[in-house]
Amino acid sequence: KEGSITKQEQQQIINVAHRGASAHAPENTMAAFQKAVEMKSDYIEIDVQMTEDEELVVIHDTTVDRTTNGTGAVGDLTLEEIRMLDAGSWFSEEFAGEKIPTFEEVLDAFRGKVGILIELKSPGLYPGIEEEVAETLKERNMDRANNEKIIIQSFNHESMKQSKALLPEIPHGVLAGTSWADVTDEQLAAFATYADYFNPNQNIVTLELVNRVHVAGMQMMPYTSRSQEQADRLFHLGVDGIITDYPEHVYNHPVKN
Ligand code: G3P
Ligand code: CA
Repeated sequence: KEGSITKQEQQQIINVAHRGASAHAPENTMAAFQKAVEMKSDYIEIDVQMTEDEELVVIHDTTVDRTTNGTGAVGDLTLEEIRMLDAGSWFSEEFAGEKIPTFEEVLDAFRGKVGILIELKSPGLYPGIEEEVAETLKERNMDRANNEKIIIQSFNHESMKQSKALLPEIPHGVLAGTSWADVTDEQLAAFATYADYFNPNQNIVTLELVNRVHVAGMQMMPYTSRSQEQADRLFHLGVDGIITDYPEHVYNHPVKN
């Protein structure tokens, strides 16, 4: 069938559940991560930030306002204050009482069950977060190149350079918004000195860009696919993985035979 890919090709595409299976459960909660495991994602993507008392927590926005019943900046709240919040009810009553997870809790619950794509979210707000993340992984012997699938990524490329120096065996990624549409080969080569992944906004992905990223020696997992059409377009451009709210789109893709 025209436009289809083989079963083997499909299985090779890394399926990353964006903030967990966030179309089906409240983003960045244990429920969303568990759902992603049930849906057979290869990785969960998590956003990591730091509380006022320097504890690592998993939440996307830099305030708790949108996804909890509280208000305020993550960096102005203590872990105790953060843990009192309801991070599920905004999505649906079924998930009332879900908490903002700690980074440690996610690692301990999901290591070995699913890969973990760790995004350092706005690390410029949290001096020392790279060291904290590195320490937390090292305490668990998760800083080695082994079969625990861990990747660290950020839109803050300086932060990734620092993190790669702290965790040289862990693959790192640079996230690239639409302002990187005209990224040059020189820039890609510079990223490749510390990054293994160039993960762009899906809207700037072309066949040419996929090829250039591969020539630079990196893989590409664009974000954020939210429809079957978007997933299909990315499959056909030859990306290595897809960061999606809908893990099922990977499996729905038309397969030859
Ligand atoms: O994994 C990449 C993607 O999560 C980046 O965008 O805003 O959803 O963190 P955002
Ligand atoms: Ca993210």
